[in-house]
Amino acid sequence: MADKKEMGFATQQIHVGKCKENTGSLCTPIYQTATFEFDSVQQGGARFAGKEPGYIYTRLGNPSLTAVEEKVAALEKGEAGMSTASGMGAISSALWTLLAAGDELISSDTLYGCTYSLMTKGLTKFGVKVILADLSDLNNLQKNLSPKTKVVYFETPCNPTLKVLDIEKIAKMAHDYNPEIKVVVDNTFNSPYLQNPLVLGADVVVHSATKYINGHGDVIAGFVVGKKDFIDTCKMTGLKDMTGAIMSPFSAFLLARGLKTLDIRMQKHCSNAKKLVEYFKSSKAIKKIYYPGVEDFPGHEIAKRQMRDYGGMMSIELNANRDTTAKVINSLKLCTIAVSLGDAETLVEHPASMTHSTYSAEELAQSGIAEGLVRISVGLEDVNDIIADFDQAFAQIK
Ligand SMILES: Cc1ncc(COP(=O)(O)O)c(C=O)c1O
Repeated sequence: MADKKEMGFATQQIHVGKCKENTGSLCTPIYQTATFEFDSVQQGGARFAGKEPGYIYTRLGNPSLTAVEEKVAALEKGEAGMSTASGMGAISSALWTLLAAGDELISSDTLYGCTYSLMTKGLTKFGVKVILADLSDLNNLQKNLSPKTKVVYFETPCNPTLKVLDIEKIAKMAHDYNPEIKVVVDNTFNSPYLQNPLVLGADVVVHSATKYINGHGDVIAGFVVGKKDFIDTCKMTGLKDMTGAIMSPFSAFLLARGLKTLDIRMQKHCSNAKKLVEYFKSSKAIKKIYYPGVEDFPGHEIAKRQMRDYGGMMSIELNANRDTTAKVINSLKLCTIAVSLGDAETLVEHPASMTHSTYSAEELAQSGIAEGLVRISVGLEDVNDIIADFDQAFAQIK
């Protein structure tokens, strides 16, 4: 078989990480076990000492998890991967490995609500100084870098305003200031098919695999990808001792199944999103479209450079107040009112009252999350049916 690094994306998503110890089964089995037998005390001791390869206890590793870790690491073009129980498990395990009291972290000001809470309420409790800044203006990064900066953290596109940040320029500025700074990028909105932050200079990628990586709305999971040394440390400290947020073997099985079709799912998400945007452009109900593929959207040129396509996520602002916006959302018949994203179903949510309710009214305004903002995860249905559903819902706006 070709070297896994030489394989194309579609081949990697199917073939990398198959468990070699199986009985010839096509799919990696679910190793539903908490612990692993040793032949002797000496063997157990050697495994604990890291002198002999092999499994010990599922919180420290399991063949089902290894299989998807290798797959996602290959797709992200990273040396190694770590699987976690959720996206928040990935983010907190990585950050708790990287940070200590007295350190500083510079973060984008627009983040998924629970990440925002981890930054502003969680890490600060343990003596980490968190500086939130609009990283689309590099001056805001430059002026906040200090000898205490350990991590620069951001999502791109950001949840829920789709603000696009320049991974290459941010990573270069941080590393020019201090090569030891770790640049951590949440790549959830894009999946490894649309963007590879490590190739653009980031040190660590985190994912909520609950979303596009799984793609079927039936798993909560996460990944961290980076250099082998860092992932080994992250497994042994952040994950093993601090969060304990390990993925279950059954989730790993479902993820390996979902990942086999990541590229074709992403292509359909992107093409459906583009057609929906064309409809929104022609609709009088819409005040503003937030989508990196729109030519006059700020960040479009960066997206063109760093993304393979423009993705399946978008937000819209209606020519309506909050109550009428809610009425429009409630009138959707095919699209589902739900948080999460990246599923086959088109999911629609209201960030100010749902995913970003951890922000105060002032913080929402500062981050550009309007009260009338509606976030859409464009699904895999026939796009004409999605368009027809929005069309009948917009009829609610007189
Ligand atoms: C960008 C982003 N990162 C992280 C998370 C957290 O992921 P999880 O729900 O799997 O913990 C989410 C969840 O919506 C998200 O949108």
